[in-house]
Amino acid sequence: MDFQNILVEKKDKTAIVTINRPKVLNALNHETLVELGEVIHLLERDDEVDVVIITGAGDKAFVAGADIAYMQNLTAIEGRAFGILGNKVFRSIEQMSKPVIAAVNGFALGGGCELAMCCDFRLASKRARFGQPEVGLGITPGFGGTQRLARLVGPGMAKQLLFTGQTIDAEEALRIGLVNMVTEPEDLMPKVLEIANTISQKGQLAVRLCKAAVNEGMQTDIDRGIAIEADAFGLCFSTSDQKEGMLAFLEKRQPRFTGR
Ligand code: HXC
Repeated sequence: MDFQNILVEKKDKTAIVTINRPKVLNALNHETLVELGEVIHLLERDDEVDVVIITGAGDKAFVAGADIAYMQNLTAIEGRAFGILGNKVFRSIEQMSKPVIAAVNGFALGGGCELAMCCDFRLASKRARFGQPEVGLGITPGFGGTQRLARLVGPGMAKQLLFTGQTIDAEEALRIGLVNMVTEPEDLMPKVLEIANTISQKGQLAVRLCKAAVNEGMQTDIDRGIAIEADAFGLCFSTSDQKEGMLAFLEKRQPRFTGR
């Protein structure tokens, strides 16, 4: 895969997607968003890949936001189209059947925080900084920040962060539930890869059904959510992975899942 602003590297069954514009702290312009959408589309269909990691190039930033130089002179119509593009790409990440983990290695501001939030979960290095500073630029978040931040940390905390534009460090992000774990900078990628590897060793159909059930269930009431889970659970019994997983347990050996 050959892109201008994005690197894709595969390690075992994991694809590492790196936003690669370090001179502007990996800010997202139109081209980068289009490329990111294409990468996600390709990885969704890539049978060699079970898990995707998204990170930023360099040791300073994950993504410092949408590209302010690009946005500066947009018209209202163009601004709306840019927001729609980003939302389409971020939603495709959220709705990807495979798990997507954000490895937040530095600044995750504005569109960067929004990118991290559309991933399934986030691990952060001690250097990470999070925030939605858009009001300081005279704009609202535009890639889902008002929606996903409120869902992740609750409306009160989200509103404080959104109204003040305040930047928080990794420990505070951990405390409010925005990230799952904080590591030393050099430990971030090994830890995320270790988690990705653990996921890869499980039955992938079951992993993907878990993701879909959580995502769909979070948008509905508990009764509908339980029904979604019952359907997912039932479906597992049509798979070879279920037969193999249970047989392996009973035979006291490791399962050999095939994702079928
Ligand atoms: C364009 C950016 C950028 C951005 C940094 N740069 N962030 N360029 N868009 N979002 C560029 C700087 O202009 C600078 O370029 C270089 O990257 C290094 O940044 P510095 O500011 O010199 O670094 P530092 O002093 O360490 O400050 C780091 C920082 C700061 C705190 C992260 O760069 C910053 O506040 N960036 C903007 C963060 C932000 O407001 N993000 C939200 C954007 S709005 P030069 O050429 O001078 O070296 C958004 C909306 C999303 O995301 C929705 C859209 C629809």
